[in-house]
Amino acid sequence: MSAPSFFRRAADFEIVSLGPSDCADASILHGMGFSRPWSDGEFQALMVQETVFGFAARRPAAGKGSLPGGFVLARLVAGEAEILTITVHPKYRETGIGWRLMLAALRHLRAEGAQTLFLEVDEENRAALALYKKFGFAQVARRAAYYKHEGTANSAALVMRLDLG
Ligand SMILES: CC(C)(COP(=O)(O)OP(=O)(O)OC[C@H]1O[C@@H](n2cnc3c(N)ncnc32)[C@H](O)[C@@H]1OP(=O)(O)O)[C@@H](O)C(=O)NCCC(=O)NCCS
Repeated sequence: MSAPSFFRRAADFEIVSLGPSDCADASILHGMGFSRPWSDGEFQALMVQETVFGFAARRPAAGKGSLPGGFVLARLVAGEAEILTITVHPKYRETGIGWRLMLAALRHLRAEGAQTLFLEVDEENRAALALYKKFGFAQVARRAAYYKHEGTANSAALVMRLDLG
């Protein structure tokens, strides 16, 4: 596992915990990365769960109302964790934010004693697959025609696992 190229790093972002007050921003950002965005309410419902945690990339000097650079949301239950979602603002993609968000989640999970981390990804999602493979995730299952796309063929979901122990 090697860090993304140094010269592209979005160094002015810091990685901070994601809190309930971030749900509206998370919903807007989610809509920029996914065809079926999760609502503010859906994020609220997740964030109140004790097993759910997340991190956001924020500019310390950013004014109120400015969106974070990205965020990751995950769940840990009895040693088994799952990435619920991760997205980076289109403007800041490929600058190392996704990597730093995943790293923060992994550090937190290891500190909490998690043994395994799962996630689900569209097999057509080249960027996400490359990111996960860089962390050492391996495919453990494939769900054919899982993601529905308007006007194009459905695509499969890959279930990937990373052992943390
Ligand atoms: C997937 C996503 C989170 C990656 O975030 P990012 O901040 O752009 O990724 P990083 O800049 O940290 O890149 C880390 C590594 O991921 C891979 N990667 C990222 N974007 C890539 C791209 N467009 N093509 C190929 N590889 C890519 C590379 O291996 C990269 O390492 P490198 O820079 O050393 O080559 C981002 O593209 C995104 O928000 N996509 C929309 C939402 C989404 O698909 N989420 C995942 C759902 S499962």
